[in-house]
Amino acid sequence: MAILSPSILSCDYMNMQRDFAACKDAGCKWLHVDIMDGHFVPNLSFGYSLVQAMRPTTDLVLDVHLMIDTPIRYVENFCKAGADYLTIHVEADTPENIKKTLEKIRELGVKPGIVVKPKTPAQALAPYLSMVDMVLVMTVEPGFGGQKFMADMMPKVKQLRAMLDEVNPQCHLEVDGGVGLDNCELCKENGADVIVAGSAYFKASDSAAFVKKIEA
Ligand code: DX5
Ligand code: ZN
Repeated sequence: MAILSPSILSCDYMNMQRDFAACKDAGCKWLHVDIMDGHFVPNLSFGYSLVQAMRPTTDLVLDVHLMIDTPIRYVENFCKAGADYLTIHVEADTPENIKKTLEKIRELGVKPGIVVKPKTPAQALAPYLSMVDMVLVMTVEPGFGGQKFMADMMPKVKQLRAMLDEVNPQCHLEVDGGVGLDNCELCKENGADVIVAGSAYFKASDSAAFVKKIEA
């Protein structure tokens, strides 16, 4: 049983509240919020003010993916804004600061997550696996929606599931980038249990059927 986390990067920005309510009506339980700083990734998206504005309007789980440098500077803002999961990139700071950042997220009552870019090996996450509630494997280079799924990330997903089973079996394993109905089975077979879909979800003609197929 997987969970779909629709990426709001692909929603209609002039009708966000309508789109979030439609996600709930379609059976979604989570929303994936992509935060980009124009530095860690070559694109800008939203800030913590959006998370703060969303929080009173929805009871969906807010799965916030920080694509920002030195995230320790901003995690308190995102936690206080109402994130449920707050995921930081392992490449975004020194190992010492990554640990401190994950601890800080936990202290603030939010579930910490750690994410790897395609070129970063699974082993880079080893020191953090027991500290997190979610591991995210990027299946595109982060920064933009609508890119092509990298099937060659599947061995990394499988390896991380095996590593997590040793030290933190309850931890979610999420995939993000280019995922849709054509490749979600492959992701699940390799151990992913949270599936992010942006363009594929928001383009689907029957969103309720999309949710059911992903979560089957
Ligand atoms: C990419 C983001 C993704 C993106 C996914 O940097 O992290 O969450 O919105 O979009 P699709 O599903 O269109 O690849
Ligand atoms: Zn994302």
